Amino acid sequence: MEINPESTIYFRNQIKRESEKGVYPISVNCVGKNISLKIFPEVFPPQKEFLLGEFVKNFPDLANAEVADIGTGSGIEAISAALFRARHIDAIDINPEALKCSKENAQINKVDAKITFILSDLFTKIESSKKYDLILANLPFIDFDGGKDLIDLALYDNNHIIHKNFLAQAKKHLTDNGRILLPHANLQSGKRENSNADFDGLEKMIIDAGYELQIIAKKPFRTDYKWRLYELRIK
Ligand SMILES: C[S@@+](CC[C@H](N)C(=O)[O-])C[C@H]1O[C@@H](n2cnc3c(N)ncnc32)[C@H](O)[C@@H]1O
Repeated sequence: MEINPESTIYFRNQIKRESEKGVYPISVNCVGKNISLKIFPEVFPPQKEFLLGEFVKNFPDLANAEVADIGTGSGIEAISAALFRARHIDAIDINPEALKCSKENAQINKVDAKITFILSDLFTKIESSKKYDLILANLPFIDFDGGKDLIDLALYDNNHIIHKNFLAQAKKHLTDNGRILLPHANLQSGKRENSNADFDGLEKMIIDAGYELQIIAKKPFRTDYKWRLYELRIK
């Protein structure tokens, strides 16, 4: 799509400016847990109002759940799942800086023993027999041929290739009752006449890939946009 949203360009430039200063600390309150993190250069900083912690915390039988956090970034979702006592988490990212960052953050929060850190393009380095009860996937979602810096891996999904590959691969890695939590925001269609076009496109992709979906949360996103959290199960 030929729209690179202004808000995304602004956000990307902000991350690049922060990156020039080096590693910086932040603190995130996630459903009553204070999580201290270091954000490494070229790593996506967690968006505090859109975290998945409350949904992970309420996941049935979390203590016995095997979790994957695809696109772990700073590790925020993997770390909160560990703090809420998930059995084990695979934290996966294609950006080597994100892996270093998330590993250090897990050590800071004393949950590194529960998390395995894997440098991988989606599930390609994961054994084909490995199954997850819960897959978290805050993937890049701007359909635009963005820049080539590491941080662009966190923002741009040109032609939705990452989402299409994710949906095809994740099916093979879900347990029978397994679920995927997949957030999305309508940053490209939000200001257009059909403001829900981004969501409609994603929902079609999900259904065509053989899943059933439910919208389990909705929030406004900045002034003109909306954020949704989808829960997917295999049909
Ligand atoms: C929007 S950020 C989310 C980071 C973190 N989960 C969070 O919620 O703050 C997306 C992450 O997905 C990673 N990513 C992009 N393409 C990927 C791929 N093909 N395989 C694995 N990770 C990928 C990026 O490097 C980035 O860390």
